[in-house]
Amino acid sequence: MYIRCSPSARAKTPMPLDELNHDQEKIMEHNAHQAQKEKIMEHNVPPSKASTSRRSFLRRGLAVGGAGAIGAGLFSAGSLYTNFAQAQAASPAVTKGDVAILRFLAAIEILETDLWQQYNELGGIQDSEVPGGSGSAAYTAALQVLDGDMDQYIHDNTEDEISHFTFLNAYLVSKGADPVNLERFRTLPGSQATGAQKDKPRLTNLMQLSVDTSWWTRYRSRTQNPDFGDTFPQAVPGLFEGKFPAIPRTDDDVKGFKPGTPPTIPDHLQAIANTAGFHFGFIEQGGSSLYPSLAQGVSHPEVLRILLSIGPTETAHFQTWQDKAGNAPALTDPTNGLVFPDLNASPFGGEDFQTNLIMPEPTVFLSRTFPPVSIIRPTEPGGSGGAVGTVKAWTADGLFIGQSQDFLAVLRKLAEQADEARRG
Ligand SMILES: [Fe+2]
Repeated sequence: MYIRCSPSARAKTPMPLDELNHDQEKIMEHNAHQAQKEKIMEHNVPPSKASTSRRSFLRRGLAVGGAGAIGAGLFSAGSLYTNFAQAQAASPAVTKGDVAILRFLAAIEILETDLWQQYNELGGIQDSEVPGGSGSAAYTAALQVLDGDMDQYIHDNTEDEISHFTFLNAYLVSKGADPVNLERFRTLPGSQATGAQKDKPRLTNLMQLSVDTSWWTRYRSRTQNPDFGDTFPQAVPGLFEGKFPAIPRTDDDVKGFKPGTPPTIPDHLQAIANTAGFHFGFIEQGGSSLYPSLAQGVSHPEVLRILLSIGPTETAHFQTWQDKAGNAPALTDPTNGLVFPDLNASPFGGEDFQTNLIMPEPTVFLSRTFPPVSIIRPTEPGGSGGAVGTVKAWTADGLFIGQSQDFLAVLRKLAEQADEARRG
């Protein structure tokens, strides 16, 4: 089945605004305001003569009979516009598989947005770009032990995820496909600590996480690749074995914090910030593998361009978080015994754990007979970095603790359909 981009499809209601939550409405309002400002600026700046005449010419053409009225005869032979129209007519349609991939990615981006917003409310910067919450001075200070700019990075990562799901849904609508809306699953309780939106129901859980930290050693191995079935040791073994908060659950979790230079940060609070630091890397390395894995099933060149343009921003996030996680101080949480080891000292240390090895080490790819190459890993279509693999990893992470079977079934279905897409 092919889904074609028809003018009537484009005219469809762009977003189910009534189902957006308050924050999303505020973000869209802000974006609309920005767009309006830019339009006014564009209007006020005297454009060059050539651009004025071209723009007004295009506007006249569109006013007369829409884009279709701009015929070849209106342009000189070999006109860029004529070629563009021909190229458009010749290009393949967005396929059912493309839509399945885009819908799964929209769902994942909505879930990423939900979890990043929870981080931003307490440990980021709350502003018109990323509204919600009022910040926790204690948690923000503990995160800043990993990097003085953690609040800015958390804010920017959150804003990126908002833009990803908003764009993907708008693109789906432009092709006559259904956007993804998970608002009916927004049922989980969030943090009750000062600074969080305590009454806001969530899609994801950040208070009982079992963070898989094997991404750390996977990107440092020079001989192994998950696409070959290889497995990798944990950087923080304890974090994978229990269930730990990555945000303060209540004000009890920040007890003992004293602002100052330097501030007094109790080990329990620092352990929560360290958990977040490793969780950031876990989430964003997932996106780094997901986009290239799914891109291999895309048919339409424009959809491929979308995946190839969003995917590397997930890797930009991952690279940042990998660097910051290496700054998490070694300590033991006195409340639950969770140990953050010194990754540069025995029995850790060496190339598999060294904290400043933040560039992907070259490793085996496609065949062990080829020389090692620095790559994103895994990227096998339908493999552990694919859609189903991502849902499995996020479920094991504890992100969906408390979610309904209905939610898990919807997500699984979206993932299976995305993994089934084949380039054609
Ligand atoms: Fe994203």
